[in-house]
Amino acid sequence: MNVRKSSSFFAPLLRGRAGVSEAFSFSTSPFLILLLFALSLSASAQGLRDVFAPDVLVGVALNQWQTNGQDGRTTAIVRRHFNCITPENVMKSGPLQPVEGQFNFRQADEVVEYAEANGQQVIGHCLVWHSQAPSWFFKDDAGKPVSAEVLRERIRRHITTVVSRYRGRVHGWDVVNEAIEDDGSFRRSPLYNILGEDFIEVAFRAAHEADPDAELYYNDYSMSLPRKREAVCRLVRRLKERGVRIDAVGMQSHLSLHHPDLREYETTMDSLAAAGVKVMVTELDVSVLPSPWGFNGADVAQNFDYQKAMNPYTEGLPDSISARFEQRYLDLFRIYRRHRNQLSRITFWGLSDAQSWLNGFPIKGRTDYPLLWDRDYQAKPVLQRIMQLKDED
Ligand code: G3I
Repeated sequence: MNVRKSSSFFAPLLRGRAGVSEAFSFSTSPFLILLLFALSLSASAQGLRDVFAPDVLVGVALNQWQTNGQDGRTTAIVRRHFNCITPENVMKSGPLQPVEGQFNFRQADEVVEYAEANGQQVIGHCLVWHSQAPSWFFKDDAGKPVSAEVLRERIRRHITTVVSRYRGRVHGWDVVNEAIEDDGSFRRSPLYNILGEDFIEVAFRAAHEADPDAELYYNDYSMSLPRKREAVCRLVRRLKERGVRIDAVGMQSHLSLHHPDLREYETTMDSLAAAGVKVMVTELDVSVLPSPWGFNGADVAQNFDYQKAMNPYTEGLPDSISARFEQRYLDLFRIYRRHRNQLSRITFWGLSDAQSWLNGFPIKGRTDYPLLWDRDYQAKPVLQRIMQLKDED
C-alpha cells in the first residue's frame, strides 16, 4: 500500500490497515478533512475536567446566584470545564434549618436541580460545622448549652432530614468540617464541649443510614501542618476501626503564593492515602495578597482591620505576581497529576475572582485574584497551561 508521506501522522495508523486503495491520496481526502475537523472540535471542547478524567472529579463551588440558573456565563464555563459542583453556603445547617424543625430547602433544591440539568455531580457541603450553624443548635430555651443527648438528637435529626431528602442525588457529603486545630487538638467548639469526639461518629453514622450509597468525607484546612495531619489520620483510623464509613478527607487548600511548603502538602496526601482514604482538594484557591497571619489559614472566626498596605493590587496584578500565581498553580497541578491515584476530586472554591470569599477574608474590602477566571469571567492564561499538563505524561 503506497501511503503519501504528506500524511505522516496517519501512516502508522494506516500501516496496518488492509483494503485501503494503494492509489488513495490522503492529502486532499474528505476523510482527512473530516477527521481533522472532528479532532479540532474535540480539542476545543476539552475542559479542565478532561485533565483528570475519568477517575478524578474536577469541580467548583457556586453561590446561590449562580445555581439559580440566572448566570449564563457561569453555566457555560461549568458545562465545559467541570463535572461536579459544591454549594458555597446554601447546604450549611444555618441556611437549611434556621429555626428548629423549620427547614428551608428552596436554594438547596435549586443546587441539585441545576447540577442535574448541567450534567454535574453534587457535593453536599456541609452537614456539621461549628460555624454557620443556627444559633439555637447548641442552646436550650434559657440560652444554656444543651445536654449531650439533646445535641446528639439534633445532629441526627438534621442530618437524617437533609441527607434522606437528596438520597441518590448527592454524590458525597462533607459530613464534619474543621473539627481539629492546627496543633492537632480537637477544636473546643460547642459540638466538642458537649459531646466530645463522639459528635463526629454520630454525624457519620446518621449520614450513612440516611443514604447508604453516598460517599462521606471529613474536610479541613491547613492540612499541611504535621500535627494537624497526624491528628486527622488518627481520626480516620479510629472511625474505620469502629466500622464507620469514611471515604475521603478534604484538604481544603486555601493557599498563597508561598505557603504552604508543597513538600509538606504532598506528605499529607501520602499520609491520608496510607490511612486508607481517598484524598480530595476541596476548596482550592491561591491568594496573591499579603496575609496578616504570615501564612494561610481559613478560620472564619478571625478578621483583621483594613490597611491599604494589605490591599496592594486594586488596579490589577503586576506581571511578576501574575507569573508567580501561574507557577504556583502549575506546581500544584503537577502534584495532583503525580498523586492522581490517591485523589478522587479537585474543587475550586469559586469560579471567578469577583465571587471569591478572599475579597472579604481575613480583611474585608480587598481585591484578590485567587481563581482561574478573572472578574470578567475570562479564563486566565494558566488554565490552558494546566490543561496541557496532560501532554507531559
Ligand atoms: O446570606 C446572608 C445575607 O442574608 C446577609 O444579608 C449577609 C450579611 O452579612 O450575610 C449573608 O451570609 C453570608 C454567607 O457567606 C452567604 O453569603 C455570611 O455573612 C458570610 O460569613 C458567609 O461567608 C462564607 C464563609 O464560608 C463563612 O461561613 C463564605 O461565603 C464561604 O466561601 C466560606 O466557605 C468556607 C467553607 O464553607 C468551609 N471552609 C472554609 C471556607 C472559607 O471560610
